[in-house]
Amino acid sequence: MRLIITGPPGAGKGTQSSRIAERYGVPAISTGAIFRQNIADGTALGKQVKAIMDAGDLVGDDVTDALVADRLTWEDTASGWLLDGYPRNVNQIAALDATLAEAGHDVDVVLALTADTEALVDRLLGRAAVEGRSDDNADTIRNRMVVYRADTAPVLAVYRERGKVVEVDGLGSVDEVTQRIFDAVDPVAGHQA
Ligand code: AP5
Ligand code: MG
Repeated sequence: MRLIITGPPGAGKGTQSSRIAERYGVPAISTGAIFRQNIADGTALGKQVKAIMDAGDLVGDDVTDALVADRLTWEDTASGWLLDGYPRNVNQIAALDATLAEAGHDVDVVLALTADTEALVDRLLGRAAVEGRSDDNADTIRNRMVVYRADTAPVLAVYRERGKVVEVDGLGSVDEVTQRIFDAVDPVAGHQA
């Protein structure tokens, strides 16, 4: 299974990713989480991306595409993967297409979590109090939403045209959303629930 999970900031991509990854036996790969880990570790990459992430803007395509292309060569991706937060603009789709073509692979499903923006701002402000993510403040959240609409929403249109998109309502309890996701993806995965 090769899955992409997408949706606006706070839609629940990270929350649902670990559950999806476990069910289909693939690693969950979050570009945002990889960048945050690099910032925490004080690496050169971390220093390069910190100000960009704090502003809620997108890290450059070259850096991000190279990071994902490398990650998809790891042995744990042999039977599939779940990408969370990538591709995040249409240029990144082209880069992923090239990486996959080289390996003779294709994306199976693009899972789009939908949710009303207002509900998501509350979720993210709630998470700020718990996790202290430096991009979970009102100004940056607003910019992340703007960037999502301008750059990331068009990604869905491309995959919709390719017939890959499955939309799932991201509002409701975490367990309810998980169940909706499994109901939508199991048929594609041929999973015996
Ligand atoms: P990224 O880490 O991908 O952040 P994001 O897209 O803004 O999304 P979040 O991680 O904030 O939300 P989520 O959908 O994962 O929701 P979560 O499950 O955490 O990207 C961060 C930054 O990295 C970007 O701004 C950019 O700078 C950079 N970046 C990353 N990828 C890039 C790329 N490809 N190209 C360029 N730059 C890139 O849930 C949110 C909160 O809600 C949590 O507190 C959770 O507990 C709660 N919650 C979840 N589900 C529910 C529910 N059903 N009910 C109630 N609460 C819930
Ligand atoms: Mg996330």
